[in-house]
Amino acid sequence: MQTPTLLLGQTLSFAQNPFHTQLSEAVRHNTQGGVLISEGKIQQVGDGATLQAAHPDAQVMDYGDRLICAGFVDAHVHYPQTGIIASWGKRLIDWLNSYTFPEEMRFGERPYADQMAQTYLDLTTRHGVTTMASFCTSHPESVDALFTAAQARGQRVVAGKTCMDRNAPEGLRDTAQSAYDESKALIDRWHGVDRLCYAITPRFSPTSTPEQLDALGALWAGHPDCLMQTHLSEQTDEIAWVADLFPTARDYLDTYEQFGLLGERGLYGHAIHLEPRERARLKEIGAGLVHCPTSNTFIGSGLFDMAGLMQEGHRIGLASDTGGGSSFSMLRTMASAYEVAQLRHHPLHPAQLMWLATSGSARALHMDDKIGNLLPGMEADLVVLDLASTPEIAQRTNRAKTFWEALFPTIMMGDDRAIAATWINGRQV
Ligand code: GUN
Ligand code: ZN
Repeated sequence: MQTPTLLLGQTLSFAQNPFHTQLSEAVRHNTQGGVLISEGKIQQVGDGATLQAAHPDAQVMDYGDRLICAGFVDAHVHYPQTGIIASWGKRLIDWLNSYTFPEEMRFGERPYADQMAQTYLDLTTRHGVTTMASFCTSHPESVDALFTAAQARGQRVVAGKTCMDRNAPEGLRDTAQSAYDESKALIDRWHGVDRLCYAITPRFSPTSTPEQLDALGALWAGHPDCLMQTHLSEQTDEIAWVADLFPTARDYLDTYEQFGLLGERGLYGHAIHLEPRERARLKEIGAGLVHCPTSNTFIGSGLFDMAGLMQEGHRIGLASDTGGGSSFSMLRTMASAYEVAQLRHHPLHPAQLMWLATSGSARALHMDDKIGNLLPGMEADLVVLDLASTPEIAQRTNRAKTFWEALFPTIMMGDDRAIAATWINGRQV
């Protein structure tokens, strides 16, 4: 048995979903808590002094009054768009054609994909993001690059080859057959290896023919423990285009449903402009909806209905959507989720924002038994937050009367300076 490590500080964990349960029952906050980790797992969470007395051999990391919580889980990103984040002035389809596709073409070169995978993981680690679900490009090399980098870091990562066989430039198009074959080979190589998980990844229905969607539906049926990730109802122009391309479909969701691409392990990014049938069906299936607030405001897509969808009982995660989203930070993403919800007259509580960025996203990925919470048995992916990381934040935190009032300024104004430490797989990185 490895010498255990004991992290001391304030601790935050969730016993329940704070959207559905009152805070006193949903949240466990300890101002003088401790987290005992060894062998890459959280062994115990409790009172700091008690844990220290019970484990005198443990190596102690004393974080003082900083806040120890689960590492952030980003449920929808495009690591290949790292280099084009914050590109000006376009809406979805023009943004894809002008900025995204030219950059994604470069990932057929393995050295470039390796370099961008390392850059992306370095940047996200600085922001306390310990797991992400990433789209890659249509090149299998881009998937190998991310999984190889994640594996070397002991990181839990979801990724998949982005399949497109129409409405994309020549250098990015595959076919129904090659999308199936290449995705299957990647599943065989990577899915379930160490902490890696494969997601079958049709980009969105405008860039796949019915034949390709059908092939990927068959692939998922043969590998039901894989996740499936795509985009759904992000912009109104896009929805009109889908209606044109699939004239017999009942709605956007039906373009996936018809082909076996609607399932509980499906992740549907954006999901803003949903029809009543789509909402009901997604709920019935228990599919994952992924809220990407900085992207939805940056590309001008719309305001996700967090309050309504949560009330209906949907499975919802939170994501940066790098690089349609304008930040790598889950603090910034929570702030944006707060602002979007305010525009819909529903102020999200800081506990709800923190839950979304950790447990909620982990639940959307069906990994909430492994990550996204500080509980014994969970994998030791943690973030330590400095709640007074800048003078602006500190002067506000100093007059806070409650823990939530002390945390909220960091959610709204914090950045990488608030990330005092990131732990992945039981190691500080
Ligand atoms: N829809 C299809 N592809 C993309 C993408 O790369 N980013 C976003 N935001 N939406 C998409
Ligand atoms: Zn996306």
